[in-house]
Amino acid sequence: MEPRSLILDMDVGVDDSLAMLYLAGRPGVRITAVGSVHGNVEASLAAQNGRRVLELCGLDDVPVAVGCWRPMAQELATAGWVHGDDGLGNTNQPDPRRGPTREHAVAQLIRLAHERPGEYDVVATGPLTNLGTALVMDRDLPRLIRSVTLMGGSFDGVGNAAPFGEANIWHDPEAAELVFNAGWPVTMVGLDVTMETRLEEPELEAIAAADTPQARFATAILQHYLGVYARSFGGRRICPLHDPLAAGVAVEPSLVMSSADVEVHVARAEGPTRGMTMVDRRPKYMEAEGRSGPFTRVALRVDSRRFVDQLVGVLTHPLPAPAAAA
Ligand code: BDR
Ligand code: CA
Repeated sequence: MEPRSLILDMDVGVDDSLAMLYLAGRPGVRITAVGSVHGNVEASLAAQNGRRVLELCGLDDVPVAVGCWRPMAQELATAGWVHGDDGLGNTNQPDPRRGPTREHAVAQLIRLAHERPGEYDVVATGPLTNLGTALVMDRDLPRLIRSVTLMGGSFDGVGNAAPFGEANIWHDPEAAELVFNAGWPVTMVGLDVTMETRLEEPELEAIAAADTPQARFATAILQHYLGVYARSFGGRRICPLHDPLAAGVAVEPSLVMSSADVEVHVARAEGPTRGMTMVDRRPKYMEAEGRSGPFTRVALRVDSRRFVDQLVGVLTHPLPAPAAAA
């Protein structure tokens, strides 16, 4: 079977790194290119971190392009307190061997989409500024991209960065509104499912005991993140798997056990709800009342056990030889 070719768009912090490691280790997956974006850290640092993770996996040839440095309509805000100032839990990782490409991440996305129409699946695990900007620049993009799977938002409107704002959406609500409503197939993997899909003590012990480069790296970068999440989990050093789960759903849609196809909009008015995902939950028969889509597939229940086992498997076993570039 032809491998799935992915374009990753990430604000490479701790869980984005785990998502990359997961994808590098799954069969039938080819990471074609990575774009960085502001969010957990600045976009230039996110690109460096992307290179670090790819090089750890032997994926030196995968290009990493620096993307948008700030959101469309608000100030830049980073999240060093969650991911460490370096985005990797303040672990002082060695510099990557190669730098980023000269191309901008938005240009890279548009170019690849035109070179191979309908072939690329996009996995977006950061603020959606690159995707939103690409949509503003190129009206053809939605029909050229096979699918977009994003980590962001929540079905029930609960947030994490703000009371109603999940971080990736809250960091750029205008871009997110464009992405949800561009007419390309979007799957939203939100807090409803990512908060319930976790690394807990047994998995963390298995990873810490494994003698693979990716397990050692994961154990190191997770320490700071586990300390942050301990405040949400009654002192237990466990963590949700936001971005890795989105990566899992992108390459293995059967991980989703139930979903809803719904209109998603993003609250953009100034005030406490800015950045909230608003889901039209009216039953189907209300469609006559003007519900027309585009619809987003929102994951409501996932096979967390199967996914966590897959992730632990990737981290604790040797990585496969990289699939040929395309
Ligand atoms: C999202 O925000 C970031 O901190 C994580 O990397 C993830 O993409 C979770 O809300
Ligand atoms: Ca992220």
